Amino acid sequence: MSPMKPLVIVTPFHESQIQAAIYCSKRSGIQIRVRSGGHDYEGLSYVSEVPFAIVDMRNLRSISIDTKDKTAWVETGATLGQLYYTIASKSKTLAFTAGVCPTVGVGGHMSGGGYGMLSRRHGIAADHIIDAKVIDVNGRILDRKSMGEDLFWAIRGGGGTSFGIVFAFKIELIVIPQTVTVFNVTRTLEQNATQIVHRWQYVADKIDENLLLRLFLRSFTSSRNGKRTIGAFFTSLYLGRVDDLLPIMQEKFPELGLVKEDCTEIPWIESVLFFAGFPRNTSLDVLTSRVPLVRPYFKGKSDYATEPIPEHGLKGIWKFLDEENENRAELQFSPYGGRLNDYSEFEIPFPHRAGNIFMIHYLVSWDKPGKKESQRHVDWIRKLYSYMAPYVSKSPRTAYFNYRDLDIGMNNERNTGFKQASVWGFKYFKNNFRRLVRVKTEVDPYNFFRNEQSIPPLS
Ligand code: FDA
Repeated sequence: MSPMKPLVIVTPFHESQIQAAIYCSKRSGIQIRVRSGGHDYEGLSYVSEVPFAIVDMRNLRSISIDTKDKTAWVETGATLGQLYYTIASKSKTLAFTAGVCPTVGVGGHMSGGGYGMLSRRHGIAADHIIDAKVIDVNGRILDRKSMGEDLFWAIRGGGGTSFGIVFAFKIELIVIPQTVTVFNVTRTLEQNATQIVHRWQYVADKIDENLLLRLFLRSFTSSRNGKRTIGAFFTSLYLGRVDDLLPIMQEKFPELGLVKEDCTEIPWIESVLFFAGFPRNTSLDVLTSRVPLVRPYFKGKSDYATEPIPEHGLKGIWKFLDEENENRAELQFSPYGGRLNDYSEFEIPFPHRAGNIFMIHYLVSWDKPGKKESQRHVDWIRKLYSYMAPYVSKSPRTAYFNYRDLDIGMNNERNTGFKQASVWGFKYFKNNFRRLVRVKTEVDPYNFFRNEQSIPPLS
């Protein structure tokens, strides 16, 4: 893409200003891009190749918690960090299931899914949306009742941006124990990482649903001998005490060799800091910052594994990680199973339920600017993605909408038909794509809200 600059950035403080922005951009024929946290992987909330305005929701970030009802209204300009911080300031036993990075925005994240460390026990963020306020193409402010169940279904995983501007979500909070256990254990190739990662695939989606064993794979310099090797970093959350966790690990995954000293018991809100990579004793206030934690340039892609990857397949991945070893290149294996399987594929547009062992997230990031530099890293990740084809889901090769990837298909600038959009649509949403198209046709037949991967209406 060769992006243009926005003609105007609107930062509303009130719903009426969003209505005005929709009215004006319709009259002047310019596109609207909505930005909540600005973490879109392809920048679709703030870049475009056609004349456009940004509606930036950052000033609409109030959060009101009802601890009795265990619900909250969250305006979409809030970040996940602000949400977690506010919940924890009201209760030690309430939480919410959503992503790990605190600067991610509620608007994009919850409308596109929202996987996090609580997901095996409590599902994804979109599973817990119980009401919403949406401003539609005609400027009407709709809630669940007035928008109807089809549109309400679509904005819980189908991405808000195809259907309107989501002003706020009402969510049900979840109950968690006062103390949880976290650990971060690393195993290198010299410590049997290949065999342990291989074994992890038979355990991760079946183990006690209170336990989420997330796995990061990277090339790194070992502090033991100063040599490069592959590290398997097991970053995990158990919703309970260490004395209950250890027997589970001993029975189901003794290969990891977890011991009590590896584990820390903390309140849930401190686990949020832990998984976001903040050092121990960092003030919780850091969760209210909107300054992104990511490096300036990155490319991400995703896959779903429905079968374990054999050891020789893993060894091929190590070769790729070695090639890109001067940079931050990694694969994240995020386990599924547990409560994620309790929902049918059609309950909400997010279709990745029973049958998936884990989601794979590929990521490479770099600091140096320039086309040549970025091309090198993007080529690398595309090659890795091709290499992975035999080991991941097929027909369609599924992908996670929140890890947006324009490589898997794009709309035309103006009119994109069902067939063309199906190329990427079925990958993100499987058969739910058809219903998303029907909802779009109903609520935005002239395709006002559109971008490179928005749901097209039937023409
Ligand atoms: P942004 O503002 O860029 O919006 C993303 C998309 O949603 C755009 O198309 C935008 O137009 C639309 N949109 C935003 N607000 C809207 C609104 N109010 N109404 C209608 N449409 C709206 N995911 C995950 O599941 N688990 C995780 O742990 C993480 N971690 C993570 C870390 C980092 C560093 C990044 C960059 C991303 C993640 N993600 C993630 C992915 C994240 O969930 C995804 O990028 C979200 O779309 C980001 O939402 P934002 O509101 O921040 O993005």
